[in-house]
Amino acid sequence: MIEYKECKRLFHLKTREFSYVIQILENNLLINRYFGKKIKYFSDDNKIAYQDRAFSPNPTSKDRTFSLDTLPLEFSSNGLGDFRTSAIEVSNEYGTALDLKYKSHRIYQGKDYLKGLPASFGNEDVVETLEIELYDSLSDVTVVLSYSVFEERNVITRSAKVIAGKTAIHLEKLLSFTLDFPHKDFDVHTLTGRYGYEKEWTKTPLTQGKYSIGSIRGASSHSRTPFIALASPEATEQSGEIYSAHLIYSGNFTAFAETTAIHTTRLGMGLNDEKFRWVLEPGQEFQSPEAILSYTDKGFTGMTRDSHEFIRHHLTRGTFAQKERPILINNWEGTYFDFTEDKLISLASEAAKVGIELFVLDDGWFGKRNSDTCSLGDWVENREKLPNGLKGLAKKVNDLGMTFGLWFEPEMVSEDSDLYREHPNWAIQITGRGHTYSREQLVLDLSQDEVCDYIIESVSNVLNSANIGYVKWDMNRNITNIPENQANHEKHEFYHRYILGLYRILETLNQRFPNVLFESCSGGGGRNDLGMLYYMPQAWASDNTDAIGRLSIQEGTSLIYPTISMGSHVSAVPNHQVGRITPLETRGNVAMLGNLGYELDLTQLESSELEEIAEQVETYKSIRQTVQFGDYYRLQKTDNTYAYNLISKDKSQVVFTFVKILSQPEAPFIRVRLEGLDPEATYYCEKLSASFGGDELMNIGLTIPYVQKDYFSLQYIFNKK
Ligand code: DGJ
Repeated sequence: MIEYKECKRLFHLKTREFSYVIQILENNLLINRYFGKKIKYFSDDNKIAYQDRAFSPNPTSKDRTFSLDTLPLEFSSNGLGDFRTSAIEVSNEYGTALDLKYKSHRIYQGKDYLKGLPASFGNEDVVETLEIELYDSLSDVTVVLSYSVFEERNVITRSAKVIAGKTAIHLEKLLSFTLDFPHKDFDVHTLTGRYGYEKEWTKTPLTQGKYSIGSIRGASSHSRTPFIALASPEATEQSGEIYSAHLIYSGNFTAFAETTAIHTTRLGMGLNDEKFRWVLEPGQEFQSPEAILSYTDKGFTGMTRDSHEFIRHHLTRGTFAQKERPILINNWEGTYFDFTEDKLISLASEAAKVGIELFVLDDGWFGKRNSDTCSLGDWVENREKLPNGLKGLAKKVNDLGMTFGLWFEPEMVSEDSDLYREHPNWAIQITGRGHTYSREQLVLDLSQDEVCDYIIESVSNVLNSANIGYVKWDMNRNITNIPENQANHEKHEFYHRYILGLYRILETLNQRFPNVLFESCSGGGGRNDLGMLYYMPQAWASDNTDAIGRLSIQEGTSLIYPTISMGSHVSAVPNHQVGRITPLETRGNVAMLGNLGYELDLTQLESSELEEIAEQVETYKSIRQTVQFGDYYRLQKTDNTYAYNLISKDKSQVVFTFVKILSQPEAPFIRVRLEGLDPEATYYCEKLSASFGGDELMNIGLTIPYVQKDYFSLQYIFNKK
């Protein structure tokens, strides 16, 4: 996977589809020679193009063609000739620039963990790692660049570690990677959006200048995802070159694509340098989060496939990583805070009757929480609502044949809570300044160890007190009011320390409770990122449960994250977020594109609706392996229609879903071609009582019946004969 040619001082990293070539120049500068479609050799005749360019500074007066300004640098600090966005900045007695030069390297099988941070993993058979040590002799600063090559998964991961030498430094900025491309003919693809409209797939042509996204909310956020892709403008679902990058991190981040005067492009990603600084004492080190890089010439479908497979196999951990996930019922939209044990049990009983496997008790079970104004932090069951406690409730749910799950929001505290009254200084705040509220709540200071320990112990106590098999971990506001000097740390260290504290909590709980399935949530998808997916193998994609609203949310989410990780619920109509009335069939068909759940009061439904839900549940169980572990294809899409097929790994089962938003007069015929099938096989669809060749379905496709209904959808399941 990693070849090193000593004579040319050239590293050639190869995956299934791409090559990544790095060279050490004579003056020990590290440059990127190539990233793109796989090549067998990188020959000696492939010379670097040098040119004397006005206003491009030179490190030596002898050669006016050599300039950091124009070379494709592998990891750059600016200030010595490179005017592009830098990967690193330190401040010390010598200023802020670093002259990083190659010092040594090592190549080894496997991959090390990143201390305190989530990161991809793989055993020695599947991943090989290159570490390159760079050194700035004047300031005695070392930077270790890591490249782990997952050949079969078509991925390289990158990260950087900074080590202070004899003197202390202030690390002002550290990206996980930068990468220079020789041209600028790209569209930038990102996932943007807002609360209730997460992961909007956004395409921006790269012209001159810089396109960047990022967050300084203390969480990746509803409106920005730590993901960026550069695609050739002609890229389609099936073809075209795409370079993609993810960051395995849940806090403040940045991602950018920047063009230059000579039409090259720099791509970069890492910790957001705004509100960031880290003091490194002599000998101390700082590890960046890890980034995942990939290239495909197989269009967005290829990108999605590589991303899903990598996340499923090399980032998702624990007991549930490769297990089919239970179909759940969550009481939130069914009851909100207004429930009793009897109400919950009648809901659970109906759920059990229709075949649902997991009952989740959402917000409102603790302290005196009857609204969102109080009690966060007091993780003690409310005996008025639950006279038999969580233990009694869990037992009753278990007796119905279901697993019992519970909601927490452990990073938060309400002003009206025993925890706040006892430890007001545990809330993030600036002494002398009033609080800033959001949903009337405050954020606990996870940069303090004792606060993290409290969270670990209070959540553990609850999990040990009853038979709880699932946790929904919510987080409903962003961080403000960063103190000047919290726990003796620099204020600009705060955001990253918060995330490190969070990761320590999650790691400890993962270790203590390996049989608890964790689902992350932040008012829906406010922190739906790879950092969280490492600890929690599924995420609630959005609080918007409207089937039509979810089409774009789910499409954006599953562009990069596996369908198994995407919580998708059927809710009541009129929908609580948008007031829309959609057929139960469409709500089911859309939710079945992800990790299916229900979130409505089943006790209020007609018997015909319950029968329909029972059928949906039965259907989902029969296709769950395909939906959760199969390959996912986005098919032809218009402004008014969406179509997908999921296909099992052995190509024996295909789940085709079509959704039309509005009915139109004299609408043209819609023909959708399926993808990824076995062309030689015959597939039978029970609903249609018809058989088709795989090649027929892929080439002729299916003609969608014209139905005069808004929000019409259909789902066809094909099984190989
Ligand atoms: C926000 C979540 O996204 C909802 O699903 C629900 O759990 C509420 N919080 C509860 O307060």
